Amino acid sequence: MTRFSTKLVHSDDPLNRVPDVVSPINVATTFRYPTDPNELHAVADLPDGRYPEDQLIYSRLAHPNGEKVEAIFDSILGQPSVIYSSGLAAFYALITKFNPKRVAIGPCYHGCKKILDIHTRNFGLVQLSYSEEDLDKLQAGDLIHIETPVNPLGTSKDIKWFAEKAHSKGALLSVDSTFAPVPLQDPFLFGADIVLHSATKYFGGHSDLLAGVLAVKSGEEIKKDLIDDRMYLGTNIGNFEAYLLLRSLRSYDLRILKQSSSAEKVVKFLDSNKDRFKVLQKITHSSLQQEPFVKEQLPNGFGAVFSIFVDSKETAKYLPSKLKYFHHATSLGGVESLIEWRAVTDPYADKSLLRVSIGTEDPQDLIEDLEQALLSFN
Ligand SMILES: Cc1ncc(COP(=O)(O)O)c(C=O)c1O
Repeated sequence: MTRFSTKLVHSDDPLNRVPDVVSPINVATTFRYPTDPNELHAVADLPDGRYPEDQLIYSRLAHPNGEKVEAIFDSILGQPSVIYSSGLAAFYALITKFNPKRVAIGPCYHGCKKILDIHTRNFGLVQLSYSEEDLDKLQAGDLIHIETPVNPLGTSKDIKWFAEKAHSKGALLSVDSTFAPVPLQDPFLFGADIVLHSATKYFGGHSDLLAGVLAVKSGEEIKKDLIDDRMYLGTNIGNFEAYLLLRSLRSYDLRILKQSSSAEKVVKFLDSNKDRFKVLQKITHSSLQQEPFVKEQLPNGFGAVFSIFVDSKETAKYLPSKLKYFHHATSLGGVESLIEWRAVTDPYADKSLLRVSIGTEDPQDLIEDLEQALLSFN
C-alpha cells in the first residue's frame, strides 16, 4: 500500500515524459498529431467521440502538468478527480453536470451562493435551506451542498447527517472540504457523493495560484463527462498554474499538518485567555465544538482557519493593523498567516468578525503577536 506522503510525490510518475526529476513548465497550447497517418482518426469515428486519454491535442482539453496534478488528486482523494482553473470553476462544473432542480444550501463561501443565484436567475433553480421542512422538498437528482468546516467560522457540520437526508430523497450530497482537506478530513468516508476543494488554498499553499478540484464517488464515467464539459466551458487549469500546483503538492502534507497543529495551539491560547482581552467576544473553531462527530470527521487535526468576534466593527477594522506577522488580506491556506476583516469581501459576514488563517510560522510567535494586538485595546 502506498501511503499519503509518498502518493504526493510519486502518483504521477507513470506520466513522466522526460528524464527531468522536476516536470518542466509546459506552455504549449497545441500538440503535434501522430506522424504516422495510420494513427490518425476522425474524431467522429472514435468511440464516444473522444480522443484516447494519452493523446494530447489542445491545452483547453488537457496538458501534461494538468494531467499529473489530476493523477495525484485521483490518488489522494481516493475517487476520480477533475482539476479546474479555480474553486468556483469546480463548483460551477458540479452544478452544470448534475443540473439539480433544487439545491439545499446554508452558510458557505459566498461565491458558491452567487453561482446558484445565477442559475436561479437564468434557469429557475430553487434554493432551499437546511430546515427539515425544506429538506423534505428535495427530490431525486437534487443536491444538498454543505461546507465543512464552514467559511468563515471554521466550525464543523455533521456530514453523515446530511448524507442520510440527501440519500433518503434520492438526492446527492456535495461537500466543500476546502477548510480541512485530506488527511484532516475525508468526506467520502461519511457518505459524500462529491467532494470539492478550492486548491488555491492548502493544496496550492503559497498564495500564488488559483485552482479547484472535484472528486466524484465511483465517478470513472462522470469524470469523462466532466472533462468534456470543462473543454467547452473553458475552465481547465492553466499550464503554469498546473506546474505550480504540482510543485506545491509535493510538500503539502508537511504544511497542512503543521498549520493544523499550530492553529489548534493558537485557538487554545485565545480561548483560555479570553478574559484578559477586553475586546475579544467569541472564538469559533472545530476544536472548540463538543459534539462527538467533530473529532470523528477530523481524526488527524482540525482546519487551520478560525474566526474571532470582537466588540465592534471599529475594533475589527483596526486590529489587523496592530499585527506584525499576519498580513491583512483575504484567502487562506498559504504558508503566511492572514487575518481578514471579513466584511471587506463577504457581503454576508458579521461586521465584527475577523477571519484568521494560520500559516507555517512558529505558533508561539503568532500567539505573542495576537496577544500584544489584543492587549493594545485594553
Ligand atoms: C470554502 C471555499 N470554497 C470555494 C472557494 C472558491 O475558491 P477559488 O477562490 O479558488 O475560486 C473559496 C474561496 O475562498 C472557499 O473559501
